[in-house]
Amino acid sequence: MIKINKVGVEHLDKLSEIDHNNFDDPWSKEMLKNELEHKNAEYYAIFNDDEILGFCGGWYVLDEYQINKIVIDKPHQNKKIGQLFLVYIMELYRTKNAKRAIIEVRESNKIAYKVYVKAGFDVSGRRENYYQNNGETAYVMVREF
Ligand SMILES: CC(C)(COP(=O)(O)OP(=O)(O)OC[C@H]1O[C@@H](n2cnc3c(N)ncnc32)[C@H](O)[C@@H]1OP(=O)(O)O)[C@@H](O)C(=O)NCCC(=O)NCCS
Repeated sequence: MIKINKVGVEHLDKLSEIDHNNFDDPWSKEMLKNELEHKNAEYYAIFNDDEILGFCGGWYVLDEYQINKIVIDKPHQNKKIGQLFLVYIMELYRTKNAKRAIIEVRESNKIAYKVYVKAGFDVSGRRENYYQNNGETAYVMVREF
């Protein structure tokens, strides 16, 4: 059964494994641990029974949800799970009376861009030379509630 639950450091090993399997520039385990323990951190995972298919989260500060990472593990990508997950999270934050959600995306990441647009995000800005590993441009995308 598919379910979405809040997660924290108790799932660090699995979340870090998914992060490393799906990004060229993953966070170190220590960075991910610090992120999950941040006082404003709100992270969620999508499960099939007890299996984590992916995770998403960031910082909820003053009515603004800044999403720092969303990932669906490779074997489960391109099956609309990312869309389902992000749309669900957006509904959750609407009910929490959030004002907006913010996410950044690499200019080349057409798949993520599409998923964010489907969840109601629009491009609000562009940051040139933003990513340290290859100097790629980031789009800043905002979802107003
Ligand atoms: C980005 C990510 C979260 C999306 O989740 P997902 O479950 O794979 O995505 P979905 O299946 O919900 O949607 C993918 C969409 O991209 C489309 N797509 C697939 N390949 C594509 C391509 N090469 N170019 C353009 N669009 C593409 C799909 O058709 C689908 O759109 P549709 O619903 O209009 O058909 C997931 O692919 C992922 O974790 N990627 C690696 C990590 C990453 O890039 N994270 C985002 C940055 S933080």
